[in-house]
Amino acid sequence: MTRPMLVLRPEDAGRMSRLHMLCFDDPWSAISFRGLLLDTSILTLGIELEGELAAFVMAQTVAGESDILTVATAPAHRRKGLAAMLIAALISRLGERGVSRITLDVAEDNAPARELYRGLGFTEDGRRPRYYTSGRDVPVDAVLMSRNMGLHPTQM
Ligand SMILES: CC(C)(COP(=O)(O)OP(=O)(O)OC[C@H]1O[C@@H](n2cnc3c(N)ncnc32)[C@H](O)[C@@H]1OP(=O)(O)O)[C@@H](O)C(=O)NCCC(=O)NCCS
Repeated sequence: MTRPMLVLRPEDAGRMSRLHMLCFDDPWSAISFRGLLLDTSILTLGIELEGELAAFVMAQTVAGESDILTVATAPAHRRKGLAAMLIAALISRLGERGVSRITLDVAEDNAPARELYRGLGFTEDGRRPRYYTSGRDVPVDAVLMSRNMGLHPTQM
């Protein structure tokens, strides 16, 4: 089912931060989100369910390439396709703006996110060793992934 997509604005910083807190060991503050939402190089899409922010994705575009900064779905709304829907919409909007490639990094031990990105056509480019430390006894690698614009192989 498609869901209405919102472009999030600085006034959404508080609810984004609250949702981030449910999803990450090192959540970003409302002040940080507000600064990011004021930055015109950043596009943030969200989905509301029953009036509550259920998921969002944020990407920054510099020199024709975009980097996904964060993605989060509230625990109560996971596995409903929200993150996949948001990233697909992001890819489409960024493509219309002439972006040629989207990059991201993800913790090696974050199987749900790696599976999400793989399913959307992102492939692994490299690693940043022992990059993630927060909430872990042992640091884990950041996996660097990217997706070129154009058709996903499964759509050809
Ligand atoms: C990763 C995250 C954003 C996924 O959000 P979501 O809305 O539940 O994801 P979707 O329902 O769109 O899932 C799309 C696909 O991703 C994969 N996926 C998502 N969650 C998964 C899980 N727990 N285990 C395995 N695969 C998973 C599946 O392939 C899924 O498709 P399917 O449900 O048809 O099998 C969510 O788990 C989350 O917020 N996690 C904490 C924050 C985080 O890790 N963000 C990413 C940082 S890089």
